[in-house]
Amino acid sequence: MATILVSLHFLIIFYVSNIPLAFAQNENQFIYNGFRPAKLHLDGSAQLLSNGLLQLTNIKNISSPQVGHVFYQFPLKFNTTSTGSTLSLSFSTNFVFAIVPEVPSSGGGHGMTFTISPSWNFIHAGGNQYLGLFNSSNDGLPVNHILAIELDTILNPEFGDIDRNHVGIDVNSLNSTELAPAMYFSNKEGKNISLELTSGNPMHLWIDYDEAEELLNVTLAPTRIPKPNWPLMSKHIDLSLYLLESMYVGFSATTGTRAPSDHYILGWSFNKSGQAQSLDVSKLPSLPRQRKTKEIPRLMIMVFLIAVTLVLITITGVAYIIRRKKYEEIREDWEREYGPHRFIYKNLYKATNGFSDKELLGAGGFGKVYRGILPSSNVQIAVKRVSHNSKQGMKEFVAEIISMGRLRHRNLVQLLGYCRRRGELLLVYDYMSNGSLDKFLYSNEKPSLSWFQRFRIIKGVASGLLYLHEEWEQVVLHRDVKASNVLLDAELNGRLGDFGLAKLYDHGTNPQTTHVVGTVGYLAPEIIRTRRATTCTDVFSFGAFMLEVACGKRPVGLQGLTEDIILVDWVFECWRRGAILDASDPRLGGNYVVEEMELVLKLGLLCSHTVPAARPSIRQVMQFLDGNANLPELPDGSTFFGTFKGNEEHDYLLSLPSSSGKGSAASLSSTDSILINGR
Ligand SMILES: *[C@@H]1O[C@H](CO)[C@@H](O)[C@H](O)[C@H]1NC(C)=O
Ligand SMILES: *[C@@H]1O[C@H](CO)[C@@H](O)[C@H](O)[C@H]1NC(C)=O
Ligand SMILES: *[C@@H]1O[C@H](CO)[C@@H](O)[C@H](O)[C@H]1NC(C)=O
Ligand SMILES: *[C@@H]1O[C@H](CO)[C@@H](O)[C@H](O)[C@H]1NC(C)=O
Ligand SMILES: *[C@@H]1O[C@H](CO)[C@@H](O)[C@H](O)[C@H]1NC(C)=O
Ligand SMILES: *[C@@H]1O[C@H](CO)[C@@H](O)[C@H](O)[C@H]1NC(C)=O
Ligand SMILES: *[C@@H]1O[C@H](CO)[C@@H](O)[C@H](O)[C@H]1NC(C)=O
Repeated sequence: MATILVSLHFLIIFYVSNIPLAFAQNENQFIYNGFRPAKLHLDGSAQLLSNGLLQLTNIKNISSPQVGHVFYQFPLKFNTTSTGSTLSLSFSTNFVFAIVPEVPSSGGGHGMTFTISPSWNFIHAGGNQYLGLFNSSNDGLPVNHILAIELDTILNPEFGDIDRNHVGIDVNSLNSTELAPAMYFSNKEGKNISLELTSGNPMHLWIDYDEAEELLNVTLAPTRIPKPNWPLMSKHIDLSLYLLESMYVGFSATTGTRAPSDHYILGWSFNKSGQAQSLDVSKLPSLPRQRKTKEIPRLMIMVFLIAVTLVLITITGVAYIIRRKKYEEIREDWEREYGPHRFIYKNLYKATNGFSDKELLGAGGFGKVYRGILPSSNVQIAVKRVSHNSKQGMKEFVAEIISMGRLRHRNLVQLLGYCRRRGELLLVYDYMSNGSLDKFLYSNEKPSLSWFQRFRIIKGVASGLLYLHEEWEQVVLHRDVKASNVLLDAELNGRLGDFGLAKLYDHGTNPQTTHVVGTVGYLAPEIIRTRRATTCTDVFSFGAFMLEVACGKRPVGLQGLTEDIILVDWVFECWRRGAILDASDPRLGGNYVVEEMELVLKLGLLCSHTVPAARPSIRQVMQFLDGNANLPELPDGSTFFGTFKGNEEHDYLLSLPSSSGKGSAASLSSTDSILINGR
């Protein structure tokens, strides 16, 4: 009993599992909402995908051009007389297809057909424009017995095509008996609406033939709407002239190398006994996402590339602007004549490693000085960055600087040229390897100088000053002679630097507010009153400088632990005691030529005379130092000698009498504190 039940059970399972989902009991009607499984014959490039989708051609298959066929496995009875039925030629079918071109919206080829054919053997048929149905020799022959509805996406003039997006009724030939551009009648809007066959979207095609009326209707529509009320084509045709008794129904599709397409069929309903049921679009398999994944990366790559390009353009632009800003200079028309003396800021920037702190040589009243090596010539230079905000007087000053560039003397630091930027002026000088003299006098990092060296430096600086005052084509005032402005070259020769620079703060301002320039301790007393620098005020500064070098002490400043001393007063005091040599620098340890030391100290005092006219000229100073003239006796009174004694910058600024008689504090701007260098 149990075995019978089990075998019955098996029998049922066997039976049920062999009933196809599509019913085809009558063999002349079937409906496939997707083709899994289906009684189909496939050939060529046609394949059934795992989700039940029929793919007739495959772009990814490299063996192009491709031809694919799909036929219902069994032949159907069409032109029959034996049964006596008068309606054997009538049929009704509808299917959903999709044509997906490789490049969206660029069109695709060649097309596909619904075909009623006496055979499924198309081995001799051509691909491409022959749509897998005919070849060049049998196209148009009555022996073909083929009816095809073509969905043609290539314009072939030789077949009388009207465009590359049409539907045609083909009887034994690719030269269609009826053609219509792809479109559908919208029941809602009451008009025809165009369709793009190669849009990649699924579309619905209905083909109905009524034998009684001899009318063949072809109706096209997008899948989202029901069958339109009006067919795309309605053709009077007597199919008994063409169709044989036993016919196969199915599809063909071809694609070429140019603009290839994937051709799909999603579902198919066929009926020879009546109206074919319309397909249930919701049950159809979905198309591979390939179209979208193809489109999205393209789009994404485009967007990405555009974004990258934009970012690159922005970065380059910003970099360019930053670079422009970084190396920006000010150039004006009047500077053209100074062209040869003009340096390019970029070169100076590179020479000094971007004005790095490592290259900083010193910082003075007028700005910082950097060492550099010119990339083009490997020449060592010193670059002074002078901050200067006003455009006023710049022209005159640059003119003067350039003319000073023509000053040539072995005791002057050679000016090589200049460069201008917003807010600053850059002056390029010969590089002095041993730095400034004050370092040797006051700092322990440099060796102390011998008297021989000091005396030579004093004579050298005097000779440089003589050149400025008397030997050049015009009188040039230095205005700031002091040890820190004397630079030593490789052979420890003294060279005057920074000459004329003080004038930058002088030019272009009105005479009433002419600033006092110089350094406290080196300033002649009359300059406070007259506010005018003269050769006499330079000589006064030179006197202070001589005392400084001989005594190893600053003119004004905290010398001992307890009290400030005024160097001139102290040397004068020593002289009055008859012990002027006591003033000599103890670091010399008495190793000096007594006559020379005495000469320098006395000459220093003489130059420090409060009455300008009583001071010797620089030419006389030169003669005394060279021993070509005898030093006159010094006047015996401390009031004859002295400097302007200002220790505290601000006290000085506030007590400075104004030549215009107004309150002095008001007429002095904050930049004046640079000019009055307290050190
Ligand atoms: C490519 O197409 C050819 C015929 O056109 C077919 O024989 C072959 O199996 C296809 N290959 C693939 C991977 O689909
Ligand atoms: C065309 O097809 C027919 C069969 O339908 C075949 O006999 C003939 O040789 C073919 N001609 C060419 C040129 O392939
Ligand atoms: C196509 O066939 C029609 C007749 O059916 C004919 O008039 C026409 O010239 C043919 N066109 C071509 C290109 O063969
Ligand atoms: C729609 O197209 C068909 C076939 O081309 C034509 O017969 C019909 O008149 C058109 N209808 C309208 C409303 O344009
Ligand atoms: C074909 O379309 C016409 C309207 O153009 C309609 O009257 C006829 O019934 C249709 N025939 C079939 C078989 O659908
Ligand atoms: C179709 O059937 C009719 C009637 O039997 C016959 O006269 C005709 O020749 C057939 N058509 C074809 C193409 O064989
Ligand atoms: C075929 O037509 C008959 C009669 O209208 C109908 O009963 C049947 O469901 C149809 N079959 C298909 C698959 O459309």
